[in-house]
Order: sequence, then structure tokens, then C-alpha cells
Amino acid sequence: MALGIVERGDGNEPIPRELAGLDVSTGGTLRAAWTRREIRGKRRELTVFHRPSDGGRVLVVGLGPAKSFTAETVRRAAAEVVKALRGKGAKTVGFALASFVRGPIGATAALRAVVDGAVLGAYEFVEYKSTPEAGVERAVVLVGGVSGANPTEFAAALREQHTIASTVVWTREIANLPANAATPERIAEEARRLASEVGLKVTVFDDAELARMGCGGILAVGGGSAHPPRMIVLEYAGRDGKGGAGSVAIVGKGITFDSGGISIKPAAAMSYMKFDKSGAVAVLGTLRAAALLGVGPKVVGVLCCAENLPSSTAYRPGDLVRTFGGKTIEVLNTDAEGRVVLADGLGYATGVVKPDVVIDVATLTGAETVALGDDTAGLVCLDDRLAGDLLRASSETGEPLWRMPLTDYHRELVKGEAGDVRNSIEIPLAGMLTAAAFLETFVPGMRWAHLDIAGPAYTTITTRRYQPAYQNAGAVGFGVRLLTRYLLNAPGKAG
Ligand code: BES
Ligand code: MN
Ligand code: ZN
Repeated sequence: MALGIVERGDGNEPIPRELAGLDVSTGGTLRAAWTRREIRGKRRELTVFHRPSDGGRVLVVGLGPAKSFTAETVRRAAAEVVKALRGKGAKTVGFALASFVRGPIGATAALRAVVDGAVLGAYEFVEYKSTPEAGVERAVVLVGGVSGANPTEFAAALREQHTIASTVVWTREIANLPANAATPERIAEEARRLASEVGLKVTVFDDAELARMGCGGILAVGGGSAHPPRMIVLEYAGRDGKGGAGSVAIVGKGITFDSGGISIKPAAAMSYMKFDKSGAVAVLGTLRAAALLGVGPKVVGVLCCAENLPSSTAYRPGDLVRTFGGKTIEVLNTDAEGRVVLADGLGYATGVVKPDVVIDVATLTGAETVALGDDTAGLVCLDDRLAGDLLRASSETGEPLWRMPLTDYHRELVKGEAGDVRNSIEIPLAGMLTAAAFLETFVPGMRWAHLDIAGPAYTTITTRRYQPAYQNAGAVGFGVRLLTRYLLNAPGKAG
């Protein structure tokens, strides 16, 4: 059983009632620890008490100062609890919900945060581990002492949040696959399996079809790899089956490995470029959640999958490539490949899907990471209503998003010399924004938002220690919670 307590001052406060009530079962050790001031409720403080009577345990998890208490506090604390129990023989953990309800965080919000923290915190990528450590198998939410709890509302929130959190785990499983397993065709197989499991329409365009369609961007980027590119289109028809509640196309960057190509990257940290498919995989996850939850709008996912490698068949700096719809790209740097594959995906979304709103999700630029760090995604969106809806979904889910500008200055910089638009420029300034200016040319007249998730898509062995406990080294599944919430919020017409 886990319960949270907020941080106490330095005085000799009496033991909180919720702890006092458990003291007898722990043989008086809880009160003794309190008196010795071992438990202060500091952030990340975790104290374990044994219950001799039944062999159980009481975990007291620190929530930090009461004044900075948010849903994120609960999400992290719940994850710290399940993490602490990994490999300790605990199969079931119960969360005392009342201890996580405080101020503006009511019972339902606390419940959702506990579900997120427990489900995400319990996840580890163990597919390639011969002897994985056993983790907690079951989490129970104990609602005793919660005032004003509405069982119907509780059950609905629990089911919805569990679907979302377990879809994030599902997404992480695919995003964590290394490039020798997760080829573009493998992503297509995952999409087909998902489609048959949850009832989505799926279309996979292979390299021959991409050539017929004129998707020269995806073909150029994937040209250097023995694993040919794929464009995958997944369709959820909307709650009414015909898009009466509006339609959203979500386009994802799916580079299964980004070596940089002929403009090759330095060796250090190149291994992390197996996560360069995170945008596309987040689109898969979002479609899964959309279908399972039956969101209002019609949702079409477009995954642009290719592997960026140097070889004698690779595209080169100086190449001019024609994309879906006819616009040409002047390739100056083969490492700016994400925008090249997205050009076809955005062109397809704009020209064929013709939705009310287009959103793209991509681990697009190192500049995003420099500007916003490894927890926050960059949002470029000139439509205030759409930006507002995405920022609201961000603050509701705790997936941080920050809005960035896009002006004629950036548009000027990406104008082509020999082609319509160029994929890289000689000055490295505002790399996230010139990338957005490039993408904008492929969504003329659309309500469009660009999410650059280069920073938050994955954690490394070094950044991991600064991340909340509901993340592990590896893929985060960033964007699934945010985009699913955006779709759930969509009232009538999407966005
Ligand atoms: N996949 C990278 C962006 C990236 C970098 C994601 C670091 C996560 C961490 C992208 O394809 C890339 O290489 N972008 C270049 C663009 C440049 C050549 C214009 C970059 O950001 O350096
Ligand atoms: Mn690149
Ligand atoms: Zn890339």
C-alpha cells in the first residue's frame, strides 16, 4: 500500500492522521520513524515499512511542498512507487487515493495521474533481456476516505486513462525496437496488425507505388538502404463513421535510423538515431487510442518511413527531388531528411486526405533540443485556435509544449536556388523555425500545426537521471497522451 504525504516543516508536527492509522499494523515503526523525523515528505523520499501481521508493506512517498503540488507530482510519485517495488517480489500495489487529492487536484484528476504514473512507471523495454527483473503486475486504487467520489465518473476515467497509458506503453515497445528490427516494412506490419485489432483502415504504399505516386522525397531518403521505404496511411472514420465531427490528419516522421546519409553524423550518440521514427510511432499510438476510445473526429495517420543511410544508391547533397504534388526540393544536406519525407506526407494529407486540420509530429531538429531541452516539444502553429487547443491538451496531460514563431524571415531563408525550396541553409540559426518554414510550403491554405519532438521523444542514459520516474532510458512515447487528449477534447468540428 502506497500513500503520499506533502513536505513538512522543520518543527515537531504531530504524525499525520493517515499515517497514525497505519502505525499498529507496522508494529509501531511508522510512528517511531515520524518521531525521529525520518519522514519529511520531501520530493522523491520513499520510506518502506513492513507489516508483520500480513507480510505486506506500507510505502510512504514524499510529494514535496504543498504549494507546488500538481497532477504531475502524483504521476511522478506513483511511478516512483512501482519502480521501487521492481525486483522486490511485490505483485500488487494499492494506492491510497485520498492521500493524492489536494487543492485543485480532485479525486478524478488524482486517479488519472496515479494510473499514468503506475502504468508508465512499470514499463521497461525487456524484449532483448535474457533475465528481466519482475515488476509489479497489478495496481489497485483504494478510494476509501475520498470525499464526493462518483463511482460512475471514476470507472469511466479509470477505463479511459488506462487505455491511454497502456497505449503509450504499446507505443514505447515499437519505438524502442532497434533499426535492425524496426525496418519501414516492420512498421507497416505493426500498422496492419493494429488496424485488424482495433478496426482501422490501413493502406501501405511500397516503393513501387511511391514511385508511381511521385513521392520523390521518401524515395530519395530511403534510397541508400536495403530496407525500402513505406508510406503508411491509417484511417479512423470518426464516431459517426463519416467525419461529421471534423477530421484531422496526423503526419509522422518515421526514420527508422538516421545516420545522416552522405552528410554523415559523428559517431558519438548516433545510436540514438534509432529513435528518429518516434513521430511516426506516436501517430500509430494516437490512432490506436482514437479507435479504442472512439473519439469524435475522423483521424487519418500518415507515416513516412525510410532509413537514411549512405551508399552508392543514397541521395546526395545537390540532388533535386520532386515530391508528391510536384514541388521540388533542393537537397543541400542529406541529414535534413525528416523534412524531405514529411514533404510527401504533408502533400498527401493536403492533396488527398483534405482534412480540416493537419498536424505533423517529428524528431526534426537538434535545434529544438538546444532551445527547449529534453522535456519540452516545440510547437509551430499560426492558427491561434488550433495552437490553443494543443497547448490546453498539453497542460492537461503534462506533456510539455512551447509555442515558437514563424515569420517571413524564416520563409526567405528556405527559398530554393535551383528548386522550389531547400532543405538546409548555410547559417545554423533558428534551425527549428527554418525547418517549420520548409514544411509550411507543403500545407498551403491548411490549418496546420508542427510538433518538433526531437528533445522529449527519448531519454538517454545520461538524461535519464533528470527525468520523471514514469520514463525510462529509451523511447518516451511522447505525443500520444497529448494528441489523444486533443482529439478527445475536440468539440464538434475538430480544433
Ligand atoms: N533526426 C535529426 C534531428 C535530431 C537531432 C533529433 C538530435 C534528435 C536529436 C534530424 O534529421 C537532423 O539531423 N537534423 C539536422 C538538420 C540540419 C542538417 C539542417 C540537425 O538538426 O542538425
Ligand atoms: Mn538527420
Ligand atoms: Zn532525422
